[in-house]
Amino acid sequence: AQSPTHASRKNSMGVNLANDNELKALAEAVNAPRAPWTAAPLVPGAKTGEAPRAVTNPGDRREVVGETRNADAATIEKALANAVAAQPDWDALPAASRATILEHAADLLEQRRGEFIALCVREAGKTIPAAISEVREAADMCRYYAALSRKLFGTPEALPGPTGESNQLFLRGRGVFVCISPWNFPLAIFMGQVAAGLAAGNAVIAKPADQTTLVGCAAVKLLHEAGVPEAVLQFVPAKGSMIGNTLLTKPDVSGVCFTGSTETAWTINRTLAARNAPIAALIAETGGQNALIADSSALPEQLVKDVLASAFDSAGQRCSAARVLYVQEDIADKVIAMLKGAMDELVVGDPAKLSTDVGPVIDEPSRTFLVEHAARMDRKAKKINEAKLDAGAEHGTFFAPRAYEIPSLSLLTQEVFGPVLHVLRWKGSELDKVIDAINATGFGLTLGVHSRIDATIEHIARRAKVGNCYVNRNQIGAVVGVQPFGGEGLSGTGPKAGGPHYLVRFATERTLTINT
Ligand code: NAD
Ligand code: ALA
Repeated sequence: AQSPTHASRKNSMGVNLANDNELKALAEAVNAPRAPWTAAPLVPGAKTGEAPRAVTNPGDRREVVGETRNADAATIEKALANAVAAQPDWDALPAASRATILEHAADLLEQRRGEFIALCVREAGKTIPAAISEVREAADMCRYYAALSRKLFGTPEALPGPTGESNQLFLRGRGVFVCISPWNFPLAIFMGQVAAGLAAGNAVIAKPADQTTLVGCAAVKLLHEAGVPEAVLQFVPAKGSMIGNTLLTKPDVSGVCFTGSTETAWTINRTLAARNAPIAALIAETGGQNALIADSSALPEQLVKDVLASAFDSAGQRCSAARVLYVQEDIADKVIAMLKGAMDELVVGDPAKLSTDVGPVIDEPSRTFLVEHAARMDRKAKKINEAKLDAGAEHGTFFAPRAYEIPSLSLLTQEVFGPVLHVLRWKGSELDKVIDAINATGFGLTLGVHSRIDATIEHIARRAKVGNCYVNRNQIGAVVGVQPFGGEGLSGTGPKAGGPHYLVRFATERTLTINT
């Protein structure tokens, strides 16, 4: 059956990557000289006291792309007071009015995609195709949640009852939602969380990642321009611990939508649980230790192409990225040799160039973590290959993609958030052992499968505890309304972003019974 929102909505067309002229125009927009971007709290009636800091380009740290300023404690408290006051009127609007505003935001975003693509490249180090996807996905999120709110929040659902009694079930906003996002999808996840919170009738306080405040600030300004009142959506850049201690401790926070690491989700969960206050909703979408299982019926060329995309696209900085390739012994030598050759062809360098496959990692701490992980792998595993860095990479925070053959999955004790692939061989009789080992990591985000045997595919899909399973393709780039995205276990509380049940998590359900 079609998704309920399928008929009323189309996903964004994005940009035709095969059209050289369109791509060239975008590359020119990315590289055009422009005034530095700025970010600061957007909180009516507050003045922030924090000093500004420079934002530099991960592809070339010599380039200052903007200036950002954090909220201080008084600004954060003012944001909460504003949100509490503004939420009831927003919630009282017809769902269709909120939806129209979000759809307008999606249109504006597409009209101004050149600037947003430039921001994603210059602040977050996204390659141009990845930045195009950010804009497309953010627009899709706005339109999808708009359509869903019309359907779910538009008219109460009439329920059966005895003669003389009317029963209705309806959804309302929970109150104030704090949306906390990561840097790796600074536009798509940031806007997706915010759009969902708003569509459900909440006031939203949006907290971007420290590394990507410029993108977040531009997105909030665009939503204001589209018609979201300034007190209903406020932008509050701040250190995570500051938001944790100053905002999440307050009883007026009714829900948190968080995407980021599992460790931070635990901290937030503990903070919310420690309050002597109404129990807040927590939506947490977290990390993964994602695997790809290939059996001997896999087509090696297709497998290697999909492994490269799954492991190294976005410099491996996707929660969905493949970290472990389990390849069946019979084809392992061939696949490993092809993988090695394919890695020699990767172009790792300036994300603003159209020829680049892999851009920088987000910052120095990320690179340091990866360098230390690679040093450990150099000692304990067998290196398959390390890609070359382009000239000029020394000016940015680059880390060359690497692949290792490892003796055991136990070598990986935490999520390795970057372009490192770990390869393990398995024998024909060991399939269940492989699936169980993947399940035993406790993470359950994505799983890739390459096999031409239907029974094997069905068996893996039934036994594996993952949110998103992809067969005979890459395992990244979930599409809104097509592959609703989210994991289980250590990978999150389970709601699927871009799926038909997501908005309900942002809402409270009420029934009204009238004896007529
Ligand atoms: P992170 O956990 O370090 O930070 C995420 C956000 O939480 C940031 O805005 C940060 O400032 C904030 N934060 C930190 N401490 C906080 C606290 N005590 N209270 C409130 N907020 C706090 O994650 P990151 O490095 O920005 O992002 C990478 C991680 O995100 C990876 O683990 C990745 O797998 C995960 N991720 C998951 C999904 C998904 O859909 N499952 C999508 C993208 C990224
Ligand atoms: N939704 C993102 C992907 O699927 C995380 O890659």
